[in-house]
Amino acid sequence: MEVIKTKNELRKLLERERQKGKSLGFVPTMGFLHKGHLSLMERARRENDVVAASIFVNPTQFGPGEDYGTYPRDLPRDIRLARSAGVDYLFVPEADEMYPDNSITFVDMEGLTDVLCGASRPGHFRGVMTVVTKLFNIVKPDRAYFGQKDAQQVLIIKKMVKDLDMDIDIVEMPIVREEDGLAMSSRNSYLTASERKSALVISRSLSDARDSIKEGENRAGFIKEAIRREISTEQNASIDYIEIVDAETLKPIERIKGGVLIAVAVRIGKTRLIDNIKLEV
Ligand code: PAJ
Repeated sequence: MEVIKTKNELRKLLERERQKGKSLGFVPTMGFLHKGHLSLMERARRENDVVAASIFVNPTQFGPGEDYGTYPRDLPRDIRLARSAGVDYLFVPEADEMYPDNSITFVDMEGLTDVLCGASRPGHFRGVMTVVTKLFNIVKPDRAYFGQKDAQQVLIIKKMVKDLDMDIDIVEMPIVREEDGLAMSSRNSYLTASERKSALVISRSLSDARDSIKEGENRAGFIKEAIRREISTEQNASIDYIEIVDAETLKPIERIKGGVLIAVAVRIGKTRLIDNIKLEV
């Protein structure tokens, strides 16, 4: 595996691979890799001749007062993990390599970006779309891999690729969880031992919701209230949002039917965690 810091160097190496007719899979990340990230890299390994991944904590997707400065970083460990997952080229640019100081162009979207995480993190998806577009333009992958963990993000990326005629297949992979159900996230490293226990209420409330929907409950309001009640039993949990929406449009629904996304964002102590389930009813 080669570790590359500059766009030009990466472009040159990948151009060589393309000229040999190799297919290219790409996995963008912000690092502090866990099994969720690795599942994307391993899938990319299976489906492509060459695999590129990036580790870049993207400043433009963090709001003021968010955790850009303290976001967990461990490059030596990430390099080992990416290599073991079969990555060929690991791109690890510094912020000024990605955003030289005269960079004033951004990618934005209407509608899908204003709800759920977009409502609580204004500008977040503009930062995500901008950096992902830049990475796509540098890497020029055939396929790019994203996790359902960030369900709104992957939906927005799919729509962006379609609307802007980017010739890239977006592959979505299921949420990888710890054995006890907690969705894997780099931000889990912020949790104290007791917060880690409290955080379990998030995935538990979602699987309880799935159970009651399986048993026939179809009132979104009722399910949301049950989730709210369950999460509120944890003293250090504070709810950012609990939403039940159409899985394609992200519009709120009243009756649970068709493709449905139940998405939550909850602060455990100071740590904001997200989780979701998708159902076909
Ligand atoms: P990051 O949070 O590092 O996640 C990188 C990719 O890994 C995303 O596609 C995310 O959905 C996926 N992922 C994270 N946790 C997962 C889990 N438990 N199971 C499955 N997949 C998981 O998402 C970002 O970085 C950034 O916004 C990025 C797209 C890199 C743009 O900066």
